[in-house]
Formats: sequence, structure tokens, C-alpha cells
Amino acid sequence: MNATQYICEACGAVASKWSGRCGACGTWDAVVESVAPSGIGKARRGRTTGLALSDLRAWEEDPQRLRSDIAEFDRVCGGGLVPGSLLLVSGDPGIGKSTLMLQIAAKLRRQGKKCVYISGEESVSQIRLRARRLGLEKVDLPLAAATHLEAILATLDAHGAEVVIIDSIQTMWLQSIDTVGGSMAQMRACAQSLRDFAKRADAVVLLVGHITKDGQIAGPKLIEHMVDVVMYFEGERGHSFRILRVLKNRHGAVDEIGVFTMEAEGLREVANPSAFFLGAREEHAYGLAAFAAIEGARPLLTQIQALVARSALAAPRRATVGCNAARLAMVLAVLDSHCGVSLHSHDIYLNIAGGLRIDEPAMDLPVAAALFSSLRRTPLPSDWIFFGEVSLSGALRPIPRAQARLREAEKLGFRQAVLPARTEFSRKDTGMEILSLAHLREITAFGEETAAPRQRQRRRA
Ligand code: TYD
Ligand code: MG
Repeated sequence: MNATQYICEACGAVASKWSGRCGACGTWDAVVESVAPSGIGKARRGRTTGLALSDLRAWEEDPQRLRSDIAEFDRVCGGGLVPGSLLLVSGDPGIGKSTLMLQIAAKLRRQGKKCVYISGEESVSQIRLRARRLGLEKVDLPLAAATHLEAILATLDAHGAEVVIIDSIQTMWLQSIDTVGGSMAQMRACAQSLRDFAKRADAVVLLVGHITKDGQIAGPKLIEHMVDVVMYFEGERGHSFRILRVLKNRHGAVDEIGVFTMEAEGLREVANPSAFFLGAREEHAYGLAAFAAIEGARPLLTQIQALVARSALAAPRRATVGCNAARLAMVLAVLDSHCGVSLHSHDIYLNIAGGLRIDEPAMDLPVAAALFSSLRRTPLPSDWIFFGEVSLSGALRPIPRAQARLREAEKLGFRQAVLPARTEFSRKDTGMEILSLAHLREITAFGEETAAPRQRQRRRA
């Protein structure tokens, strides 16, 4: 029963009729014919008459998970890989997806798991070269450079693989689909076939997907609904850290993150991300505020850096790195209209240390504190940590997960937390001093008693 359907190559919209112009996105000449994915899985033939009762499975207790022993990866997966599932690992080209996959495959292979690495992007000798660089050349991991999925699946079925890595889904193609490899129709159909394989062989299939910054509109996003787990591997240009983020997980929590650094000999886990992103503490520098953020499901300490400098420009500069410019504008407006702190004639630079990108309401308070500290040239105590949302009235609003943030800060040696009044946490479970503020205005008292007298005089003059 091969139902014909039509897929737009530009946006991925599916239609039952062909048309010259996509009804969803309006692109001309992008709609192509394709076989509906339900017709592809050969194993399903002869099963259309009904479902035998023996096919119904009892509610599984906890699935037997395969652990790679790369702790950050296993945690992000929800405790390990679940047999019979399909995972998608997306990321920019060059971010380290193949490296991560090879390291995972090698770890599993070393435990005796039947693991196969199929690359449509590199030759076997290139993969071997990378394996050597990673110190994995001794692992007898079956490798293949192939893109013809029917052939690959036939081999996989015969081989009885437990874990299969497909690098990348964009390079795979099925003969039965009438478009070139990498097209939307191919990608969907290939993902469907691999999903069928995962289910029938009770294997784990890891798909690598490239995201292109612009150019391609839909890309691997189109198959996200077909897979059990969606992960993104991200990093910033010029920084060695990489974050593996899970956006969808049928077998675990979403919003988990795993932190790695890319080294000359491959990816290394970062066991203590807060210490990594905070960096070395500077005792007497102004414009710095430590922020207890929540990244994914995890508390993560970072440092907000602000520089406020007198501007010679009619329209002073506002530059942000790693945080939202609209949030900075909002904090500046509240400082001006409710706290009597005007920065109209100053250039402002705001940066999150370590190259991290954060957009969380809880950063309002540390941003304001860092700005104020820079304006007054008065350092904030280096063992203070901040978090809290600022409302447009200047009132501070409590934010969620305060206890987890406090715990992380305490672990890293912070002594005092500055947070909104009415924040929910249990005082007896934290050894930190707590300074709770009702209104942002109260930060203008910071430094009054700690500022050097010389500086105070200068300010008065
Ligand atoms: P790669 O895994 O090929 O990225 P992707 O599959 O996402 O395209 O990694 C590419 C980059 O990683 C490449 O620029 C070189 C760098 N790299 C290292 O720094 N150390 C290593 O050990 C390896 C294998 C790669
Ligand atoms: Mg690659």
C-alpha cells in the first residue's frame, strides 16, 4: 500500500496533491513526489490485517539501558541508551558530532557491544585517522563508508548490530525514493526505515544531522517528530566548550545538558561546569557579578561582566555578548526610572564569561548589579552570588529553583546570596548568608560601606 504524497523541499510541508507552488511556504517548483513513509518498512508487510494479542507488550518496567560510560552523555540520555530507539544528534558542521559519536561507539565496543559506525561523509581511512587521534585505533569497531540505505540495512539485519551510528542522515538515500540524497523526502524516508530497523532489531540507532545556519530552512528539524530523542550539540566559535542539550526525550527528562571541552585528543567531559564557566575569581575588579543560572535542568554558575564607560557618541553603544540585548535595555530603563541610576551618556558592554549564552529572567538582578558596580567603580564582594528577576516596576520577583542554585553556589565557596524577597527555599538547608531585596533600588546601597574613601570623595566631587 504505497500511498503517494508530495513534500515541499523548502519547508517540508506534506500535501496529498502536487502543485507548482507550495501551499505552506509559497516556494515555486519545490514540491516533489514521494512514497508515504508507511509504505517503506518491508518488515511490516503481511501485518496489515490486525494486531495479534501477543504483539502487545506489557508495560515495561525500566528499559535495560546501554551505558557508554561517558557520564555526561549517559546522563543527558536519561541514564543510557534505550534499545529499540532512534536518536538524532544535530549541530553545526565542525562542532564535533562525529568525534562524539566515535568516542561513544568505541566505549560501547570496548564493553563488547555490537556497534557499527556508518559514515556517508568520510572514507574509512579518514575515520581511522580520527580514531588514531582519539587514541582508539586498537578498538575493533566495524566501520563502513556507505550511503545506500537499502544495502546498509540488509547488512545491519545480517550483522545483528545493537548500536548503529549513521553519520549523517543527510547523506543517506533510498533507491525507492525518487529524489536525490539529502532532500526532505529522502531524509524522512531514511529516518523511517532506520526507525523500523531499530524497532525490529531492538537496536539503538544514532543519527547525526547537520544544521546549516541559513541556507537550508527545515533540515533535520523535519524528522524530530520521528525520533525518540533529539539532542543538539553546540558551542561558540573560539571557545573549546561544547554543550550537549536534549530537547526531546521519550525515555527521560528534557532540558538536560552535558558539558564537554574539545581537546586535541577528542572530547573531554567537564565534571564541574560551574567552576569551568566561572573561571578564576578576581578580588578587586569592578563590574563583575556571579550569577547562579539554571541551564537546562542544571544549576550553572557564571560570571556577568559589565563595563560602563563615558561615551563621546550621541547614541552611546550597547553591546552584548552571550545575552539578550532587549533584557539589557529593560534593566537599563528600570535603573533609570526607578533607581535614579542614569546611563544615558555611557557606552555599555555586557558579556557572559566563558562564551556561554544565557537568556533567563533570573539574570536581571546580576546584570543590574554588575552595571552598577562598573558605574561606581566599586567591586562587588567576590563571594556574593546573585539571581532574581526585575519587573518593570523595579520590584524583584522570585524565580524558580532557588534551592538548587544556592546549593551549587555553596558548593563552589560562595558565602552570600542576593535574591528577591519571597524567594522560596529552605533556610535550614543552606549555609549561605541571605540578603533578600524587595526592590532593585536597594542595590544602589552596595559598596557604600566597602568603597574606598578615596573613591567616595571622587564621586562627590
Ligand atoms: P567533527 O567531529 O568532525 O565535527 P562534525 O562531525 O560535527 O562536523 O569535529 C570537527 C572539529 O573538531 C575539527 O575542526 C577538528 C576538531 N577536533 C579536535 O579539536 N580534536 C579532536 O580530537 C578531533 C577528532 C577533532
Ligand atoms: Mg562529521
